[in-house]
Amino acid sequence: VKLTYIENTGARREVDARAGVSVMDAAHRFDIPGIDGDCGGACACATCHVYVEDGWYDRLPPMEELESGMLAFACDVRPNSRLGCQIRLDEALDGLVVRVPQHQ
Ligand code: FES
Repeated sequence: VKLTYIENTGARREVDARAGVSVMDAAHRFDIPGIDGDCGGACACATCHVYVEDGWYDRLPPMEELESGMLAFACDVRPNSRLGCQIRLDEALDGLVVRVPQHQ
């Protein structure tokens, strides 16, 4: 599954992640800075916050209550904010673009 991260610096990094992993897991695997994921993907820390770019937001499965509740604790939440650990990659998300926030 192709996935592009836009880093804090503005640099775009395209990676090829395994289906089934989350946007947060893939960021760790490919050493993308700025996506901390302190709770390890349990939807309990909000440090895996990302902005979903390029029209992808509406194509993601909708947020569950747990995610929207935790997202409220993230910094600088915008209409295209999601938690990276709750976005699971599959073929339907091939080409997804997410931006790393300035702070977690
Ligand atoms: Fe903790 Fe996503 S990794 S909420």
